[in-house]
Amino acid sequence: MTKILVTGGAGYIGSHACKALAAAGYTPVTFDNLCTGWQDAVQFGPFEQGDLLDRPRLDEVFKKHQPVAVMHFAALSQVGESMIDPGKYWRNNVSGSLNLIEAAAAAGCLNIVFSSTCATYGDQDNVVLDENSAQYPVNSYGASKRAIEDILENFEASHGVKSVIFRYFNVAGADPDAQVGEFHQPETHLIPLMLDAIDGKRAALTIFGTDYDTPDGTCIRDYVHVCDLVDAHVLGIKWLEDNKGSRVFNLGTGNGFSVREVVDNSRSVTNRDVPIVEGERRPGDCTRLVSGSSRAVTELGWAPTRSDMATMIADAWRWHQNGHFDR
Ligand code: UFG
Repeated sequence: MTKILVTGGAGYIGSHACKALAAAGYTPVTFDNLCTGWQDAVQFGPFEQGDLLDRPRLDEVFKKHQPVAVMHFAALSQVGESMIDPGKYWRNNVSGSLNLIEAAAAAGCLNIVFSSTCATYGDQDNVVLDENSAQYPVNSYGASKRAIEDILENFEASHGVKSVIFRYFNVAGADPDAQVGEFHQPETHLIPLMLDAIDGKRAALTIFGTDYDTPDGTCIRDYVHVCDLVDAHVLGIKWLEDNKGSRVFNLGTGNGFSVREVVDNSRSVTNRDVPIVEGERRPGDCTRLVSGSSRAVTELGWAPTRSDMATMIADAWRWHQNGHFDR
């Protein structure tokens, strides 16, 4: 079967992508250093442990598996941490991706699906964020992802490396079968932290900032279900097979939810109280990030089915109750 190299395949989004690729008839080969991923999440194809900074190891894996394309998820992705330790983000995300792209080009694997982020747009209040919007990242994480987009553009010109770049908005939810799901150590994301607070694993959810210029004072984000998100990636592989050149797609629904609205939805989905504490703003957070583009729908035929807030929270809650928390 056709192999796809999935960097970060042991992580949250990568493991869901491996499941979707296997369902679509591909063999996903996970390449992961397990610094934030989990070996027990690799269930849908072979596992190759390795680090993107280790070029000989990358060359070995390309030679062994001869993948037709790469899905590149492996990255450090905590906005707050990236403000404290930017060097870690530039080294791991940018140098690691450069190694990967060079190794792919050397192996003749010229199709790359890359996980970028809406954090590359930065804080542009009241602006519709589409793929042509200017990119002014306000945190080192977003800056590192924008740099990788630039590297891909350069390597298309020099080596014919084609890419589909997905700029994610906020990924949420879990596999409805609860085979894989979200589990970060430490956890920093809103919905899993909120579920922890709901079932008493932590005392309360702290809302980071209540004085933003939004209707209820809390930050607004555009949440997309992880299963819908990875379906777009499978369509991205097909796009690369069928088209010349490269393309950027936002992956969001266009619906913005404030932190308080997410909390309210969680109360009704779980039928439990959410203990909250109102805290200071978190450095690096943008006020509002909402996609204003339907390019993925019109050009890829992307049809999200689970990205309504109630379904995302219900799927995350099911995983939260049944997933592998003995890690
Ligand atoms: N938030 C809280 N309390 C928490 C955690 C988060 O109030 O304990 C708030 C944040 O301030 C933010 C919102 O909830 O307003 C969402 O925060 P997340 O940490 O869940 O997500 P981010 O928006 O910071 O970051 C995520 C991904 C990034 C991506 C970014 C784009 O982690 O990879 O979305 O917005 F780039």
